[in-house]
Amino acid sequence: MKGIILAGGKGSRLFPLTKITNKHLLPIYDQPMIYYPIQALVESGVRDILIVTGGSYAGDFLQLLGTGRQLGIDNLSYTYQEGEGGIADALRLAEHFSDGQKVCVILGDNIIEGTIKDAVTEFEKQPAGAKILLKEVHDPERFGVAEILNNHVVNIVEKPTEPKSNYAVTGIYMYDNSVFDKIKTLEPSSRGELEITDVNNAYIRERNLSYSFLEGWWTDAGTFDSLLRASTLVSDSRKKPA
Ligand code: DAU
Repeated sequence: MKGIILAGGKGSRLFPLTKITNKHLLPIYDQPMIYYPIQALVESGVRDILIVTGGSYAGDFLQLLGTGRQLGIDNLSYTYQEGEGGIADALRLAEHFSDGQKVCVILGDNIIEGTIKDAVTEFEKQPAGAKILLKEVHDPERFGVAEILNNHVVNIVEKPTEPKSNYAVTGIYMYDNSVFDKIKTLEPSSRGELEITDVNNAYIRERNLSYSFLEGWWTDAGTFDSLLRASTLVSDSRKKPA
């Protein structure tokens, strides 16, 4: 399976920090943000990785990561997203890289405590379709929210004002190669973006979306509060006895 890290977008919720760098290069405790999704993929055995980035500081990724070998990556590729057309728009750019294989996609601002190894192994065995990872949260209205009925995800709503559950869809997604055809059928949402939630709902309509729950803490780092929380969570877990 190939790995894709989406690290484009404006990071406008973190202005002025992101006026002078890309959001995913900001520090989370003792490492740049982008290290965490890289480590999650590498640790799960996914070591052929594409980083999709954009904006004025894209070159800084190359300077920071180089070949990626020091982080355990076997093959590191980069591509550039023009504009900020949304998560599915960034993923669209990975079609050539994916080369017909399944992909594991992580949003560059998602940080986890645990491992995605089991989910990756399960998805390798899944004949086709997609798999998402859910996490119970107290503020579901900030995320894509999954509605579950009889152990199946029956619908996902992006940032609902009245969430049907507390199950956030984390920014870790696994797809078969039909994802790229699905993206081609999408229309921009009211915020002008190609939404990853619309991709996941397309798999639900085909009855081909599985899910599991993420163990350990999970956070995004796209707002001042979540950026601070991410650093605190990492710092605390570094101090935990092994
Ligand atoms: O963190 C999980 C949540 O991420 C999910 O629950 C939501 O369903 C999903 O839409 C997403 O919500 P956000 O509003 O937090 O996404 P955001 O616009 O902050 O983008 C998250 C990452 O995606 C960002 O760190 C980089 C990448 N991205 C985003 C956009 C808009 C791109 O690479 N290109 C883009 O154009």
